[in-house]
Amino acid sequence: MAVSLLDRVRSYVEPLILVGISISYLPITAVLHPLLLVSSPTSFRAKWFENFWRIIGPKMAASEIQVEHIDELLSRARGAVLELGPGGGDQMYHYRPGQISTLYGAEPNAFLHARLAEMAAAHGLGGAKFVALEAAAQPGSLLPALKKAGLVPATTSTLPEQGVFDTVVAIKSLCSAPQPQLAATVAVIQALLKPGGEFLFFEHVENSSDPVTMSYAWLLGWFWPLFTGGCRLNGKVDRIILGMGGWDQRSVTTTGDFRGHEVFRYVKGICRKT
Ligand SMILES: C[S@@+](CC[C@H](N)C(=O)[O-])C[C@H]1O[C@@H](n2cnc3c(N)ncnc32)[C@H](O)[C@@H]1O
Ligand SMILES: *[C@@H]1O[C@H](CO)[C@@H](O)[C@H](O)[C@H]1NC(C)=O
Repeated sequence: MAVSLLDRVRSYVEPLILVGISISYLPITAVLHPLLLVSSPTSFRAKWFENFWRIIGPKMAASEIQVEHIDELLSRARGAVLELGPGGGDQMYHYRPGQISTLYGAEPNAFLHARLAEMAAAHGLGGAKFVALEAAAQPGSLLPALKKAGLVPATTSTLPEQGVFDTVVAIKSLCSAPQPQLAATVAVIQALLKPGGEFLFFEHVENSSDPVTMSYAWLLGWFWPLFTGGCRLNGKVDRIILGMGGWDQRSVTTTGDFRGHEVFRYVKGICRKT
């Protein structure tokens, strides 16, 4: 499948533009939060990402090639829902609040929480219907937060056999979770689902069919995470899902007109726990 040089260059420039935009928020953040810069580099990075994401998040959430897929996924969310990495709540408008009892948003970046709660309330998930958790997706962060919130018993080391959530959602957030722990993270997501519950995801993943793109992504990988809140370009959630049991239905599809040379291959997943 021949790809024109122009198409290739275009798709290689795309991530560089994002890095450029992110860099432009660095001096503003440093000027506004000099104390954070010296006292806590981790908080400074989180603040920097928040400034960047407040502008870019809504633009990305409006991206025409993604909107209908994300709507298809989030319109399925029902009952007790756990969303991993909801950011500033830019995808909230896809939820059908009438079929949701409570939405738990596990967002590790606390600077995004105020906007997240605002967006939830603005889209029919206000008051007791939305609970923000300051937690990341990996088990070492998620499970203590679920225990603290009383969703998982604090005293036992095993998860409730009947599950906890009807739906678990991840939209472009698992790329920022620690990749070596991704299989364990997905296993815990499955364990947290009630029988018949669904894991819904929309993520960009690696595609190894084009060696030139693989090499380019490898090069980018040296600095990309620094400017994108820890995002990785070589996600494998699709392969992990396809390689594990415990789902009675599972559909993992590449979206858009992916041709192999792009840095981002977006996949949509609908997985129903047995
Ligand atoms: C690209 S943004 C997407 C936000 C939102 N899902 C959206 O589509 O607008 C990635 C989000 O993942 C969060 N994140 C970072 N590390 C994470 C982790 N280890 N587990 C879960 N979420 C994480 C970031 O704070 C950020 O809000
Ligand atoms: C690359 O993407 C194509 C198109 O979606 C898919 O058929 C193929 O299995 C992918 N290859 C890998 C190794 O992920």
